[in-house]
Amino acid sequence: MIESSYSDTQLRERIDAALKAYSHRVGRPRSLVEAMDYALLGPGKRIRPLISLRCALACGGSVDTALPAACAIEMVHAFSLVHDDLPALDNDDLRRGRPTLHRAFPESLAILAGDALLSQAIEVALQCPNNPAIVAAELLRGTLSMIDGQVLDTIPDSSNDPIGSEAHVQQVHELKTGALIVAAARMGALAANAHARDLEILTEWSRSIGLMFQLVDDWIDATQSASEAGKTTGKDAHAQKHTWVTVTGVDATARRVQTLALESTALLDSLGPLGESLQGMTRELASRTR
Ligand code: IPE
Ligand code: IPE
Ligand code: MG
Ligand code: MG
Ligand code: MG
Repeated sequence: MIESSYSDTQLRERIDAALKAYSHRVGRPRSLVEAMDYALLGPGKRIRPLISLRCALACGGSVDTALPAACAIEMVHAFSLVHDDLPALDNDDLRRGRPTLHRAFPESLAILAGDALLSQAIEVALQCPNNPAIVAAELLRGTLSMIDGQVLDTIPDSSNDPIGSEAHVQQVHELKTGALIVAAARMGALAANAHARDLEILTEWSRSIGLMFQLVDDWIDATQSASEAGKTTGKDAHAQKHTWVTVTGVDATARRVQTLALESTALLDSLGPLGESLQGMTRELASRTR
C-alpha cells in the first residue's frame, strides 16, 4: 500500500493496537495498569497521534517508524486530560462519554496514573528508530509548555497580559493545547527524518491548527450539550475560564476558526500532493462538533 493512502480509520487501528501493546506490564500494580488503560485506551479521537503519523507520511516516512512518537504524544495528552479534570483543576465528572478517571477510580490513583503516563511516554518516545533523543526532547518541550498553559489557565494572575484580553487567551491556548499539537507534528516529522524545510512548514501549520483546535474546543464547550460533547466543563466557579467565546462571542469564534483553517491549509501548499491528507485533516478539525 502507498503509505499516504492510509485512511484515518486504518491509522487509528494501528495507533490503538500499538497503545494496547504498551500496556499490561507484568509486575506492576494491577489497579495502576487499569487506571492507565482507562485513561489511554478510552474512546478519544486520537488527533495528536494521527497528526504525528500524517506528518511522518507527508515527509516520506512510514507508519512503523513514527508509531512510537505517535503513542508517546497520546500518552502525554491522556495524562494532561486526567490532571485537567481533577478537582484541583477543572473538577469535571465526564470525559469521553464516561466518568472522569478520578470519579471511576480513587483520586490518588488518577494523580499517579497521570504521572505514570507521562513517564511511560518518555520511555516510548526513546524507542523511535530515528532521532530518539530529539523526538523525546520535543515531547518534553511540548509537555512543559502545556503545563505553563495549564498554570496560566488555572491561576490567571500569573500571566503578563491583561487577564481576559485576547492576547491573554491566545497565549494560554497556544501553550495549554497548541504546544502538544506542535510537538505531535514535529515528533512525527523528526521520526521520519524530515528535511529541514518540511519540518519548518509542518511547524508553522501545527502552530496555526493548534490555536484553531482550542478555539473549536471553546466553541464546543459553549454550544454543545454534555452528551453531544462527551464531557462536562467548568461546573465550578473557579473553573469559569476566559475562553475565546467568553472574550469574543460564539459567532466571532466560529469566524476566527474558518480564517485559521484557510491560513493553515495555505501553509501546506508547498508540500504538494503529500500535504493533501493534512489539508483534509485541517478542514475536518475546523468543523468538528465533539
Ligand atoms: C481535549 O482534547 C482537550 C483539549 C486540549 C482541547 P481532544 O478533543 O483531542 O480530546 P480526546 O482525546 O478526543 O478525548
Ligand atoms: C484542556 O483545556 C487543555 C489540557 C488538557 C492541557 P480544557 O480544559 O478546555 O479541555 P476540556 O474542555 O476539559 O477538554
Ligand atoms: Mg482546563
Ligand atoms: Mg478541562
Ligand atoms: Mg475546553
